[in-house]
Amino acid sequence: MKYRTHNCGELRSEHKGQVVQLSGWVKNWRNHGGLLFIDLRDRYGITQIVFNPQQGKTLYEKAMTLRSEYVISVQGKVNLRPEGMVNKDMSTGEIEITAEKLNILNVAQTPPFEIMDEIDVHEELKLKYRYLDLRRTANKNNILLRSQLYKIVRDFFHQNDFAEIETPFLMKSTPEGARDFLVPSRNYKGKFYALPQSPQIYKQILMIAGFDRYFQIVKCFRDEDLRKDRQPEFTQIDIEMSFVDESDVMDVSENLVKKIYKEIKGKELKSEFPRMSYQEAQSKYGSDKPDLRFDLSITVLTDVFNETQFNAFSSVIDDKGIIAGLCVEGADRFSRKQIDKVTDFVKNHGAKGLVWLKHQEDTLEGPIVKFLSDREKNEVIQKTKSKNNDIIFIVAGKEEETFSILGELRLYLGEYLDLLDKTKDSFLWIIDFPMLEFDHEENKFVARHHPFTSPITKDIDLLEKEPTKVKARAYDLVMNGNEIAGGSIRIHQASLQQRVFQMLGISKQEAEDKFGFLLTALEYGAPPHGGIAFGFDRLAMLLANANSLRDVIAFPKTTSALSLMDGSPSPVSEKQLSELGLRLESNKN
Ligand code: AMO
Repeated sequence: MKYRTHNCGELRSEHKGQVVQLSGWVKNWRNHGGLLFIDLRDRYGITQIVFNPQQGKTLYEKAMTLRSEYVISVQGKVNLRPEGMVNKDMSTGEIEITAEKLNILNVAQTPPFEIMDEIDVHEELKLKYRYLDLRRTANKNNILLRSQLYKIVRDFFHQNDFAEIETPFLMKSTPEGARDFLVPSRNYKGKFYALPQSPQIYKQILMIAGFDRYFQIVKCFRDEDLRKDRQPEFTQIDIEMSFVDESDVMDVSENLVKKIYKEIKGKELKSEFPRMSYQEAQSKYGSDKPDLRFDLSITVLTDVFNETQFNAFSSVIDDKGIIAGLCVEGADRFSRKQIDKVTDFVKNHGAKGLVWLKHQEDTLEGPIVKFLSDREKNEVIQKTKSKNNDIIFIVAGKEEETFSILGELRLYLGEYLDLLDKTKDSFLWIIDFPMLEFDHEENKFVARHHPFTSPITKDIDLLEKEPTKVKARAYDLVMNGNEIAGGSIRIHQASLQQRVFQMLGISKQEAEDKFGFLLTALEYGAPPHGGIAFGFDRLAMLLANANSLRDVIAFPKTTSALSLMDGSPSPVSEKQLSELGLRLESNKN
């Protein structure tokens, strides 16, 4: 049987008079003055079908049995819709099909939610019936946009001489920062493969193998605490290049983004993406991924309060902390109640309190002004460039924490005061990252990026002496406040790699056990190399103006890493476990 001559988004007035056949899903039906109207939906669009009792009783009666989401095939004639019935919002809105034959290909249960654009349904229900959720136009379009994105990315890299190479999913457990997902080996009981957190080591080894320019669109797996912008399995555009420095990798990345942007948004991004040091990003915007669609920046006010009478500030200064604030227009938009909300917000982010000062009639007002000298008030006004009807929010505490709280507050105020220009996209490179950060839980240094990232040459000698001062040859690309890519120039000398492992508290033996194969490979003529990886899902989410990664992943996991449609993770049989040589704690006797 032939199912269709056209799809449901295809027919226009020029098809008038043609006999056509369409197949799809019944979106909805309406009975108007004896005529039955069906909206027939497929991936390409919606076409209105009319069943007229005059066309035959049997056909009409059959059509009356149709329900939402039945799968049908209809043959009929294309007619122009009567004047006044044309629907300009529909691509097929000029025509309708007068049905002559109907074939019910499959019936459907009543869906647990209506398949329409705006529905107020619990996320869990939508994920359980993901195939129904994906029938909704916005979701379908997101997945199709993702498909388009794969093609643009592949074309770009093939045009630029990159080789597409797959790397294994079953690999050695070589932690990169997150927890590994492990896969027990049946042949070698007690041993495990790990799913790659990223193909980092493989792509470096591909450079040692001489492939020069590599890319892959690849799944990565990380067993980490999930957030809105994280999934346990996600996709990267993974890139590695030989004989390059930072600018080479950044240039390729910018060109890729520009091509994507042009093809998806139809807009040219002409200028180079600005670069900002990690230090500047932290102290001005309180974030290593600042959203620069609005200008608001942090003002450090510590000096102003060197001799302050206000205890909360003086004690912070005694503890070598900082005092810093944000100044925004619109003091009149901050009632007491609203200020309480802002206070709760910063407290939830770890602030001890929030000081606020309203600039009114050329002076500052607020509960703490009585503790402030005229000089302090004037300097606050000068430094924050405050004017009448501005409000200044001030937080005091340890440097890093204070910047990061103000970074969160900055985003809050950006939203609340509608400061973001959502028609604009902002791209920004963050560079000059510190190489190490101290992990207070583990009580040791860990690599900020990953342990294969090269320190900048002039800092190599500081590795043992002043590790916190060592900067990495790393770079992150930020789009609208989201880290969409991160990469670095790698260490290509085995001896330096060993030194860095040591810095990270990885003993010689441990390095040999975990990364011995990389260290060996580095001994066999490793070229200087570097690369980057884009978070494909994040990029797709931003391009689709979606709110969550789930919106651009066909079968996403929940924030608690469950797949509600198939119910994974799920128990396995005793037999499966025993084949793997495993026994569950709970089953041990
Ligand atoms: P990194 O860990 O920074 O670098 O990851 C690169 C990019 O991947 C995205 N990303 C995620 N997206 C969704 N869910 C997650 N759980 C998740 N984790 C990361 C982010 C991030 O910028 N091997 C290195 C890259 C390199 O050095 O070349 C790496 O994986 O957008």
